Amino acid sequence: MTTTAGTATGTAPRSAELFQRAEARTAHNYKPLPVVVEHAEGAWMTDVDGTRYLDLLAGYSALNFGHGHPGLLRVAHEQLDKLTLTSRAFVHDRFADFCAALGDLCGKELVLPMNTGAEAVETAIKVMRKWGYEVKGVTPGQANIIVASGNFHGRTTTIVGFSDDPDARDGFGPFAPGFTMVPYGDLAAVEAAIDENTVGVLMEPIQGEGGVVLPPDGFWKGLRELTARENVLMAADEIQAGLGRTGRTFASDHEEVVPDLYVLGKALGAGIV
Ligand SMILES: Cc1ncc(COP(=O)(O)O)c(C=O)c1O
Repeated sequence: MTTTAGTATGTAPRSAELFQRAEARTAHNYKPLPVVVEHAEGAWMTDVDGTRYLDLLAGYSALNFGHGHPGLLRVAHEQLDKLTLTSRAFVHDRFADFCAALGDLCGKELVLPMNTGAEAVETAIKVMRKWGYEVKGVTPGQANIIVASGNFHGRTTTIVGFSDDPDARDGFGPFAPGFTMVPYGDLAAVEAAIDENTVGVLMEPIQGEGGVVLPPDGFWKGLRELTARENVLMAADEIQAGLGRTGRTFASDHEEVVPDLYVLGKALGAGIV
């Protein structure tokens, strides 16, 4: 983040007070910058002391459309006044259009909406395992998924169990089995890790959380060819890299790759839901 006025430390009187109060009453699973935002529009945020910031983080992609996009706010307000929630026990009047539009954007037949990115990843894991048992014929209970070092796919217990980041993982075991880690960007390592129980490969086309890490040119395309050849599903976690973040609809598009599963989040909620 950068600032046009004052300092970026967020230590002005109101910021400091509100920051310390929030820190005193939140469990410390995160280390936020000491910036206390009160208002935002487009790419700009203003803190409680009037300092303006250019928001280059964009909510880790949740705000790819900017803060308070007027068109999105208008339809969100209209919807809130009309209908807030139905549960999946009923179908609401926007559901068919939403599923068709998202499916068409991805070039896929089916979509399954979740509430968070981590749930979307969990769902992709379930889909790959179920496919492994019911279609590929993997022995029950033996399905294995290949993941990458340096990954970040969320913070549920299953997901942190296949992270190599001590901050995400330490103290939360025991963890679910069924994951094999290989170095990110190493196609030969993926190939060597595949066996008859491998049902899928779950990776980010660009890693986001541990620094912006790009795989070597050709890796993503090679992974697509390898997984297709080996009868293994390819799940692209595009939660942070996708939906316009890298200049294409999906980061996979840079290598003209269509994975078997897109895992989406962040910008899909337009910074509102
Ligand atoms: C690549 C990636 N996958 C999954 C997630 C988890 O998404 P959520 O925080 O919505 O659970 C994140 C969150 O930053 C992410 O960057």
